[in-house]
Amino acid sequence: MIGRSTKFISLVLVLTATIIFFLLALENLTIKKDFDSTWTAISERNRASGEYNLLKIGDLLQNKEELSPTADTSQRNVSVTSAPSETPIPILLKKRFKKLPQWSFEDIYNLDAPPRPMTCPQSLRNSKDQEFQKAFLPNIRMYMHKNNFNIREWNRLSHFNNPFGFMEMKYDDVMPVVKLIPKPKEPLLLPKPGGDGCVHCAVVGTAGIMNGSKMGAEIDAHDYVFRMNAAVTNGFEEDVGSRTSVYVHTAHSITSAPIFYGKFGYKAAPHDEGIKYVLIPEGLRDFQWLNSVLTGEKVSDGQYRNRDARKYYSGQYNETRFYVLHQDFLRYIRNRFLKSVNLNKGFWAIVRPTNGAFALFTALHICDTVDAYGFMTEDYAKYSNYYFQKFLKTKVVFFANHDYIMEKNLWKSLHDKKILKLFQGSESQQKTEEP
Ligand SMILES: *[C@@H]1O[C@H](CO)[C@@H](O)[C@H](O)[C@H]1NC(C)=O
Ligand SMILES: *[C@@H]1O[C@H](CO)[C@@H](O)[C@H](O)[C@H]1NC(C)=O
Ligand SMILES: *[C@@H]1O[C@H](CO)[C@@H](O)[C@H](O)[C@H]1NC(C)=O
Repeated sequence: MIGRSTKFISLVLVLTATIIFFLLALENLTIKKDFDSTWTAISERNRASGEYNLLKIGDLLQNKEELSPTADTSQRNVSVTSAPSETPIPILLKKRFKKLPQWSFEDIYNLDAPPRPMTCPQSLRNSKDQEFQKAFLPNIRMYMHKNNFNIREWNRLSHFNNPFGFMEMKYDDVMPVVKLIPKPKEPLLLPKPGGDGCVHCAVVGTAGIMNGSKMGAEIDAHDYVFRMNAAVTNGFEEDVGSRTSVYVHTAHSITSAPIFYGKFGYKAAPHDEGIKYVLIPEGLRDFQWLNSVLTGEKVSDGQYRNRDARKYYSGQYNETRFYVLHQDFLRYIRNRFLKSVNLNKGFWAIVRPTNGAFALFTALHICDTVDAYGFMTEDYAKYSNYYFQKFLKTKVVFFANHDYIMEKNLWKSLHDKKILKLFQGSESQQKTEEP
């Protein structure tokens, strides 16, 4: 009796093991088949927990020479030529990953041709700081446009969650829009004629520290002024200035800011004559938005369905002055400057730098000098959340999708390294502190 049941149990065990091995082999096979044949996919399964852990993809580049070991590995480029036979990879789901997945090509970016000639000896690009030089990619591709996109790029970027890529998005929902984005006609910013050959920028965030700062004239005196989100200037000129040369936004920020901050005087996105608009493609809704912006038709689907996106630019939309940030640029900022520990947590997929951080990094890549105002400082608790809350002391709000403390520390460290100048309070503000 005992002998028979042992035999039976062994048989069951053997059968179970066979089935498990069969399933594992099948899984490996399907994953291999999932990807383009020129790519090698290896699934590594954590057998103990049965948890999907890592999927490495090597041989990303057709032309392996581009990955030659003699090349500086921190400056690897991505090839954008694709074979006509390529098809989109199956959709990867965020829920498959318990934390930010690490791909073998995570830190390889699409690089652009060398930027405009350097005519500014004091440019932040010439910083001697080794840590910064190691992280900084002066040639990173900053803007998406129809000429630098194809199925190969789609497949590569489909491994990254939004806003860093197209994970969970459908090729047919996004690619036709990308194919409408014209190649930007000119560098976003050029040195002013008759100037010192440098591009001097002010980037103005919305932090409460600007209230009572009297920095308006200083800000407006820069060659270019960047703003983002609820960039109210009406009534706050003395503290934050009135000019906007570059406005950085998402579909969400440009549509919601007038609703949330209308009571503080924010009516519409800045629309100075000749203003340049920079879109952070945050998610699918931004591509739906972009379609309306680029075609002049109403948004056809999703959250902003039936809205006329162009209206939000108050007549200043012009395709020659509209730029869409490249996912590689956004991912590079996260990976090399703002890799929050929260990316290892269950909510990793929503963790990303703030729009303010993306705007500041845009400036750091296209300006020679950058002065940052209204970004978070050590003494943030002294001020309201927003400068336009002049008569309302609010607390700084921390949303789980951003690592504000990490950003605050980064701005301070870039300030200490003289890569940017961070406004940390004016004399008049310091004086009013004294009893
Ligand atoms: C990277 O590749 C692109 C073409 O894909 C090319 O235009 C660019 O010059 C290259 N950049 C560098 C720094 O090699
Ligand atoms: C804003 O600044 C003004 C003076 O510059 C001050 O009276 C006011 O209390 C400040 N508001 C807040 C919320 O700190
Ligand atoms: C867009 O800007 C260009 C260059 O400044 C100009 O020639 C063109 O007329 C503008 N288009 C519209 C629709 O305003």
